Amino acid sequence: MTRQKDLVGLDLGTSSVKAVHLQRSRNTYTLVELGIAPIHPETIVDGVIMDAATVSATIRQLLDEHNIGVKEVAFSVSGNSVICKKIKVPKMKKAELREGIAWEAGQHIPYSIEDVNLDFEILRETDPSDREMDVLLVAVKKDALNAYLAVISAAGLRAVVADVNAFAIENAFAMSRKAQLDEVVALVNIGAAVTNMNILHDGISDFTRDNSLGGNRYTESLQKSLGLSFEQAEALKRGEPVEGHSVADAMPVIEMTNGELTGAIRNSFIFYHSTSRSKTVHRVVLSGGCALLPGLAPYLSRALGLPVEIANPFQCIVADPKKFDSQYLASIAPQMTVAVGLALREPEDDAG
Ligand SMILES: Nc1ncnc2c1ncn2[C@@H]1O[C@H](COP(=O)(O)OP(=O)(O)OP(=O)(O)O)[C@@H](O)[C@H]1O
Ligand SMILES: [Mg+2]
Repeated sequence: MTRQKDLVGLDLGTSSVKAVHLQRSRNTYTLVELGIAPIHPETIVDGVIMDAATVSATIRQLLDEHNIGVKEVAFSVSGNSVICKKIKVPKMKKAELREGIAWEAGQHIPYSIEDVNLDFEILRETDPSDREMDVLLVAVKKDALNAYLAVISAAGLRAVVADVNAFAIENAFAMSRKAQLDEVVALVNIGAAVTNMNILHDGISDFTRDNSLGGNRYTESLQKSLGLSFEQAEALKRGEPVEGHSVADAMPVIEMTNGELTGAIRNSFIFYHSTSRSKTVHRVVLSGGCALLPGLAPYLSRALGLPVEIANPFQCIVADPKKFDSQYLASIAPQMTVAVGLALREPEDDAG
């Protein structure tokens, strides 16, 4: 048996870079290393890398600091540079579809096919008598993908898996939970700039959407309404009082922004309902740094009338308590969801 090659899950988020290294033996995953390095808000803006040198230096530093010597990484993209669409195509073999995917994609994608990298996955068959099958089409803009590949290679690493945030969170979720029969679970990952959503039916992705609304909205609103710097607003948002302002001063702005975020999530659920033969979401699993925002999960639950739980991607991962403080792990868990989902990938997963 060949030994599974190690890889590191590398989440290049707009507010921080996160790395997770797992080791697999049979069906057990063990945490080898992990780390987070903050990056300045102007370094990656709306998923576009503005300062490539800083990003690769941050990646390098993060891996060195944690003694992660593995060179192979799995990374992901999200936001405007990605389009995921469920499409119907005539039933055919995978190899056949690979030949024809560019033509199929041309019917569904608003970009020129030359400007995107295409990938697809044949989803489960709905009805055996059906002449068509559901295919998940993924198109990533080449310039965005190339920018990510460039910073990774400048950090001395090799990208062996390119993924999409929405599928990375699905991968992390799939490890820890079995979905109930016919259950519809919405995975909602609220980062700094983007909210990634993946609605699973029976454990299989049914709908994905990225929304450019995230934790930065709280920070910006606090900055504007209370006249704070970015750093002050970030601290206040996390529940730390800042010069001249108590946490209570921030509450009205936070509540208002909770409402905005909830509105965007609700709209996606309504859209899903109207395009999925009236399926409704049964529960929400919240991840991303904003899942740590005190009060957001209960607010969402009340506003949507649904159970909302906070993701713990480390639930089924063995972590040596002598090496990893369990309180620290718990405090960053939801924010590490994408990186864990990526770390679980295997090089062969890359459909290329
Ligand atoms: N304890 C906390 N309380 C409140 N907000 C928090 C906390 N920790 C992190 N955040 C917020 O979560 C956001 C960062 O989350 P995350 O790390 O998931 O985003 P990212 O991956 O860097 O960004 P994106 O995915 O949008 O590119 C920031 O807006 C940050 O202020
Ligand atoms: Mg993120």
